[in-house]
Amino acid sequence: MDSKNLHEFDAEKIDRLFQQAMDGEITSDLIPINDTTVNIMMDRTKLLMGTIVDYKELMMMYACAMKEIRTKFDVLNTEFKIRYQRNPIRFINTRLKRTASIVEKLGRQKLPFSPENIENHINDVAGIRVVCSYIDDIYTIADSLLHQDDVTLITKKDYIANPKPNGYRSLHLIVSIPVFFAERKKEMKAEVQIRTIAMDFWASLEHQLKYKQEIPNQQDIIMQLKECAEVINATDEKMLNIRRQIEAASDIPTEEDILFEKLCRLDINPD
Ligand code: GTP
Ligand code: MG
Repeated sequence: MDSKNLHEFDAEKIDRLFQQAMDGEITSDLIPINDTTVNIMMDRTKLLMGTIVDYKELMMMYACAMKEIRTKFDVLNTEFKIRYQRNPIRFINTRLKRTASIVEKLGRQKLPFSPENIENHINDVAGIRVVCSYIDDIYTIADSLLHQDDVTLITKKDYIANPKPNGYRSLHLIVSIPVFFAERKKEMKAEVQIRTIAMDFWASLEHQLKYKQEIPNQQDIIMQLKECAEVINATDEKMLNIRRQIEAASDIPTEEDILFEKLCRLDINPD
């Protein structure tokens, strides 16, 4: 074995020792300290630093995608407010998936942590939740978003038309939008959840169940929640029906009425 091969053999062996130390099979004091060890350590550190930097950059990009989509909804809401004197959106929440949840979700798919795996296998790193007043607003808002020519629909799950067995209702969209950075444009995915205030109220209470250990009356609670989901849905539908009756009862406006209405609304603060 010449000196080069000997060096490679050493490197391979030391690399294996490093792996064993990381896996907890041996203690790190069994790794000899020499030039090869230091080089391997430096290489690993560089690799790790590279991954951390790429990860941070990727998360910044998701945060930007989230801002873009939020702005799209804000614009739609403002337009609605001026046009119909009514806000279809009550509030919007955004969240960036936490590192621990990303690690856990990749782990469930038996995938190692890497920026590529995050991009290719996790659709909800950027999450936007839009809470509306009425059920029809959900579909109006979703259609208005999906009609925009820079928005691509990846998947749509309508848990309002098809509620989950526990009673969960919401409209889920996985979309992709281009985000423009200083030197490039990048398609970024995001999860949009659109629901009514009542559906949101229900989901936040039901969500608490997930974080509780087995509780003695769990089955009963699940049943009560399911009942509540049905009552809430009936109320959502009733509220929509009442709103429609009120709208239908209003006189059909003349052209002059419409123009005058628009004039009255000119000074409404769009914020
Ligand atoms: P995740 O792996 O959890 O993201 O689920 P998925 O990929 O099967 O997607 P799905 O559209 O079913 O759910 C995505 C998200 O919707 C969840 O992360 C929750 O925020 C919400 N969600 C879905 N189902 C429920 C539910 O039964 N209860 C509550 N409270 N939230 C839910
Ligand atoms: Mg999720």
